Amino acid sequence: MSAQTDYKFAGWAGDAPDSIEGKLKWIEYEPKKFAEDDIDIKIQYCGICASDISTLSEGWGPMKDAYPQIVGHEIVGEVVRVGKDTKNGIKMGDIVGVGAQCDSCLKCHYCNKDQENYCSGGMVGTYNGKFSRTSEGSKSWGGYADYWRGPSHFAIPIPEGMDPAEAAPYLCGGGTMYTPLVQHGAGKTAKNIGIIGLGGLGHFGVLLAKSLGCEVTVISHSARKKEDAEKLGASHFLITGDDEAKAFKGHERSLDLIICSSNAPDMNMTAYLSLLRPGGNFILTGVPETGKISDISPFSLIMGNVHIGGSLIASPATLKEMLALVAEKKVHPWIKKWPMDKVNEAVPDMVAGNARYRHVLVNVKNGGKL
Ligand SMILES: NC(=O)c1ccc[n+]([C@@H]2O[C@H](COP(=O)([O-])OP(=O)(O)OC[C@H]3O[C@@H](n4cnc5c(N)ncnc54)[C@H](OP(=O)(O)O)[C@@H]3O)[C@@H](O)[C@H]2O)c1
Ligand SMILES: [Zn+2]
Ligand SMILES: [Zn+2]
Repeated sequence: MSAQTDYKFAGWAGDAPDSIEGKLKWIEYEPKKFAEDDIDIKIQYCGICASDISTLSEGWGPMKDAYPQIVGHEIVGEVVRVGKDTKNGIKMGDIVGVGAQCDSCLKCHYCNKDQENYCSGGMVGTYNGKFSRTSEGSKSWGGYADYWRGPSHFAIPIPEGMDPAEAAPYLCGGGTMYTPLVQHGAGKTAKNIGIIGLGGLGHFGVLLAKSLGCEVTVISHSARKKEDAEKLGASHFLITGDDEAKAFKGHERSLDLIICSSNAPDMNMTAYLSLLRPGGNFILTGVPETGKISDISPFSLIMGNVHIGGSLIASPATLKEMLALVAEKKVHPWIKKWPMDKVNEAVPDMVAGNARYRHVLVNVKNGGKL
């Protein structure tokens, strides 16, 4: 099969923390060396995740020599090059997606049981990562760009009939919420679910918990998103304001599982844990830039028989399972499309907290539809 390989790899890069203020610059870059299990994707859509912002802004720590950085890990596009060992039955012309992980060792215990996101050798992030299994030391480049190159193992076929623009943000935001929902029994042992923070991830949390048959409570820091929460399918809405203990009076032991997608820096954990029934789980997906969660009293864990944990993105198998579910149930995320060349407006709008609920960049010249 002959493939057109004369295209250039180029995208919108940040080279300093203030790049999130609308200062991303278009650059050309050298992708990893093409390996026989790789594919190239002509990017049509890429969602904007809060992790893109925290990476570029150094909110999670200094980037040192990692600039320039092209972020974006909710990528969908057309396969324009395949290798001899391309996986997943992927063919030229297929529409596929890539989430927040682009490689792992593919042979450890966790990689062998569909938990590549917890690979013992470390997962390679779709941006701000370094490949090691092939093209060792080569930088990973994200999706605010024209093309993506990487291992086909991490490319997820988009189900027939699903809007590819809507599929994009499922690949990080959706999968990150679906994984702990399923792991902790949503719709089975856990019927009452709390979602903290109604942002990109949080809105997926509500949609997915509902489609798994749960009753959902949204816990938000203001009243602003109450109507949206109801439209998304939430039955209850708790407003924390600045006093969580007061806000949760009368709601103690009402939830089986809480997923916290908020990145609020100070949370009264004792108050949040009081919402859980004995045996309940509080799972963190949001990452406060302080790098800490607030003090937790041992008694709030012991007396309540509650557990605190975390969850990192989704494995390829879980992403496939989730996309099959949402394609079948026609679960539509709330997205706003932006031409990719307006990225320097879209990113600051996300930073300002205006996304309702996910911004998706559209690469029009590559066939993306606004
Ligand atoms: N674990 C993982 O694998 C994983 C994967 C993807 C993203 N993440 C992380 O998950 C978090 C959420 O990502 P996202 O894309 O959903 O972000 P987002 O759209 O900005 O949503 C974050 C939400 O948190 C709430 N919030 C409360 N206090 C806040 C504060 N001081 N600053 C910012 N938000 C505050 C807001 O909801 P209310 O208005 O309802 O309070 C806000 O909408 C980020 O930390 C991101 O890095 C983690
Ligand atoms: Zn993400
Ligand atoms: Zn591994």
